Amino acid sequence: MSDVCVTGLGYVGLPSAAMLAARGHQVWGCDTSPAVVAAVNAARPHFQEPELATLLEAAVRTGRLAAGPAPRAAAFHLLAVPTPFTAARRPDLSFLHAAGDAIAPLLRPGDCVIVESTCPVGATEGLAARLAAARPDLRLPALGQPGEIHIAHCPERVLPGQAVRELIANDRIIGGMTPACAERARTLYESFATGACLMTDCRTAEFVKLSENAYRDANIAFANELAGIAQAVGVDVWQAIALANRHPRVEILRPGAGVGGHCIAVDPWFLVDAAPDAAPLIRAARAVNDAKPRQIAARLRAMAARLKAPRVAVLGLAYKPDIEDLRESPALSIAEELAAEPGLELLVVEPHLPALPPCLAGRARHLPLAEALERADILAILVAHRAFRGLPTEGKMVLDTVGLLAG
Ligand SMILES: NC(=O)c1ccc[n+]([C@@H]2O[C@H](COP(=O)([O-])OP(=O)(O)OC[C@H]3O[C@@H](n4cnc5c(N)ncnc54)[C@H](O)[C@@H]3O)[C@@H](O)[C@H]2O)c1
Repeated sequence: MSDVCVTGLGYVGLPSAAMLAARGHQVWGCDTSPAVVAAVNAARPHFQEPELATLLEAAVRTGRLAAGPAPRAAAFHLLAVPTPFTAARRPDLSFLHAAGDAIAPLLRPGDCVIVESTCPVGATEGLAARLAAARPDLRLPALGQPGEIHIAHCPERVLPGQAVRELIANDRIIGGMTPACAERARTLYESFATGACLMTDCRTAEFVKLSENAYRDANIAFANELAGIAQAVGVDVWQAIALANRHPRVEILRPGAGVGGHCIAVDPWFLVDAAPDAAPLIRAARAVNDAKPRQIAARLRAMAARLKAPRVAVLGLAYKPDIEDLRESPALSIAEELAAEPGLELLVVEPHLPALPPCLAGRARHLPLAEALERADILAILVAHRAFRGLPTEGKMVLDTVGLLAG
């Protein structure tokens, strides 16, 4: 068993820290948010994730996991900080660089630094160069050239809502600066993961993770585009897709209200940024998915315009079913647009949130499903939460963006 320092205790870092502690490692978690540190030390997950509370409780109670605002020396450093994009849709590596700067003084020969954050190609080498500049007394590896520290990129692929199960079961991409770096990183993952550890170099690992998310985005864009065409020609898109998918080599995804979250709506831009002229399809997919919330809000406004004092119930705010995460949520941006519509009363049903987010506070009413169903003229089904299945819609105008009523 090893000592491990996990920097960034969010959706990725916290389940990983708790899992490593559960498997007997001594884990120190570090986060710049005092609220996150306090919650972790109190064994309280600061977001909803099945099984995490039990794992965290055991990790903290046994003394194998504790957290603070700064990193500590450890045999393994896991970096799980945000990698968002800038206003110009370029990768923002400031969090990763700050995390690297914080661990640099702590590094000792033989330590292993693993970047789990999703990165543009070259970011892991950039981090190694940054660590080398901060620690001229140490020999850091360069791509293919060994050093005294191991550095690897092991992108995280967990699905929020199934993170604990997938942490164990998913296959892992282990991308080393050198084969020895990958080997060292592999030993940590093999201590808790049952999925295969697939070894490669860090550039390929970065590219693979971005490709996975760009693939998902492009396929969702295709389904979303079909939904728009089907509406224009008066075809039920859900029935059409179900029939098309009976072809042995066709598997069209389900359309929706757009694409949200921290990953699929962001990561494809890292590929576009790397080679803009080579990425017209990936860029177009982003545009298709980004346009979707505005199109849906326009359809809802048109439906509301037919009524004198329209009451619209938005069902779901999260960016995907059965979680409370609002990051980049298309449903939230649709709700915000509707909240700005004069004369429209906005009702919001989000069973995964205790209250409305600040951007909607005072501009909409947060209601339980039954009450919203009673009051609303128009139902906008924006998220396929399990809680919404089988809802009665008689006498209502309905816009079902996720095919909940189609089965
Ligand atoms: N959420 C997912 O499902 C998911 C899946 C795969 C990959 N990823 C990637 O993993 C990375 C982390 O994502 P996340 O969803 O866990 O983010 P998050 O925002 O939930 O958590 C990141 C945490 O890092 C902390 N932080 C920021 N800068 C720090 C610093 N310098 N030192 C210490 N702590 C710092 C923040 O306070 C926050 O608590 C991103 O690159 C993301 O793209 C996320």
